[in-house]
Amino acid sequence: MIVERAAATLAEHGIETARTDAEWIVAHALDVSRSDLVTLCHEVDEAEVWPSVERRAAREPLAYVLGEWGFRRLMLRCDPRGLVPRPETESVVERCLELLRGVEGPRVLDVGTGTGAIALALKDERLDARVVALDASADALALARENVERLGLDVELVLGDLRDGLPPGPFDLVVSNPPYVRADELDALEPEVRDWEPRAALVDEGQTAVLVRAARDVLRPGAPLVLEAHEEQAAALARDLAAAGYAAVRITPDLAGRDRVVEGLKS
Ligand SMILES: C[S@@+](CC[C@H](N)C(=O)[O-])C[C@H]1O[C@@H](n2cnc3c(N)ncnc32)[C@H](O)[C@@H]1O
Repeated sequence: MIVERAAATLAEHGIETARTDAEWIVAHALDVSRSDLVTLCHEVDEAEVWPSVERRAAREPLAYVLGEWGFRRLMLRCDPRGLVPRPETESVVERCLELLRGVEGPRVLDVGTGTGAIALALKDERLDARVVALDASADALALARENVERLGLDVELVLGDLRDGLPPGPFDLVVSNPPYVRADELDALEPEVRDWEPRAALVDEGQTAVLVRAARDVLRPGAPLVLEAHEEQAAALARDLAAAGYAAVRITPDLAGRDRVVEGLKS
């Protein structure tokens, strides 16, 4: 059956999740759930499925092959213009929602929005929030706009480089999943990331350090800056926040127990 053959092809190309990826691709072509595949597989038009199998075999991320990806309660359009939203970033959203509890009509800024994942999930789960999302990549912002329109969620999108300044505050929360891969680590990453995801979304060129300083100018006193970090960099980032004058600096682990979310309050 086609799922087996697709899985075998993907496995030959070194994809560890070959079977589930094959199921996702075939289920997507049939517009059914993965659990319905068993009964429906004989109806598959191979010509429709196989180009997707070949794209995945070339190590294109599954999210780009499918053209959409789930993030919290949302299905986001996904393609190489923006980073594929990660499960650990859902923990960032969770922490933001906790911090916004009790704040009415909060103003929120998402810096480096990519697909719009964080901004859109926050708006979706806090309908009273006024959310602004910034990105320096016109491509990423166009993708975020498609997601804003498709989901019908009111998020203001701003094209701009955080190094030129942030949109005017005051904000009740600033959040970011900044690029945090060192340039010399790029070659060692999986091909899905290294060869397909936008370099500007991956490589740390000092954006986080600038953001830590710039966020102080747009946050309301006592309001949090929430950052996603690589687990090995979280402790150092927490020290940077404390050194920059943020109070109540804290690290929250993600669902896998890894130190991923770093926050501090503007004092
Ligand atoms: C790691 S991705 C995060 C995307 C999305 N927030 C998420 O979590 O899936 C970082 C994003 O920051 C943007 N970015 C990189 N440098 C930037 C800068 N100097 N100013 C504004 N955005 C920047 C990239 O274009 C990219 O979309």
